[in-house]
Amino acid sequence: MKNHPMPMNLAKWIHHFGVANRRNRIEPAWNAPLAMADEKRKALAATLAEYQLGDGGGPCKLIARDAERLRASDDEVKEVIDLWFKEEAEHSRLLGGAVRRLQGEFVTDTFAFRLFKLCRRALGAQYEMLVLLLVEIISTAYYHVICRHCDDSPIAHMCLLILRDEGGHVTFHRERLSSLYPTGVSRAWKAQFWALGVACAVFLWLGHGKWLRTIGAQRTEFFDLVTRGLNRFINRLRLAAERQPSTQADGHERDWRAGYAAHSTVAIPTR
Ligand SMILES: [Fe+2]
Ligand SMILES: [Fe+2]
Repeated sequence: MKNHPMPMNLAKWIHHFGVANRRNRIEPAWNAPLAMADEKRKALAATLAEYQLGDGGGPCKLIARDAERLRASDDEVKEVIDLWFKEEAEHSRLLGGAVRRLQGEFVTDTFAFRLFKLCRRALGAQYEMLVLLLVEIISTAYYHVICRHCDDSPIAHMCLLILRDEGGHVTFHRERLSSLYPTGVSRAWKAQFWALGVACAVFLWLGHGKWLRTIGAQRTEFFDLVTRGLNRFINRLRLAAERQPSTQADGHERDWRAGYAAHSTVAIPTR
């Protein structure tokens, strides 16, 4: 497992993406009657059309310079990455259904999308996966907001399907990072995580806030969901590190404690 790019239980995730999460997926009733004020319909169509491009609509694969090297490193790594992106492509397809339902116009390029690709390419594939993880946490807040305020069953249904997938993606990344940092992440890593996460959320609100406000969402509502998502991720990463099987150092300490206990009647304080 040493130097393996994903030293985790990949078979479990291949089964999740390839089999378990494909069950019970009912297509939203796109042709159901639409009763929505014109202003709201246009705002919803505009925000979802831009999201359709970013959420699986652009290059639906890892695009960092060393992405192919990562995929080629191991058959299971390749399979799990491809299955994860297959779900992202499904999000784009679902969002396309929503844009058509709302008679919106598809978007093929935006400044935000070009910047997003630039960030993903900036450093290696591990960094790109961190950027994508943050986008998944921020997207979870976005889809919750859309689901709450869209007042349309097929679009709410679509949000729930995507949220179900994104929940799996975030957990996949949590397990991936736990396997790379079994004793926990550093303060610098956490600072980078928060800085990038907040920057990503601010950027999303700058671009989509006007449309989200039109459908009835509040800025505080969105940022509250983002903060909770980022916090939850860091807390679960910490809990996973605390639950990790004993590390080498712990093993040494256990041996030392056992040896000490055999020769002394003085209790050793426990942590
Ligand atoms: Fe997605
Ligand atoms: Fe995702």
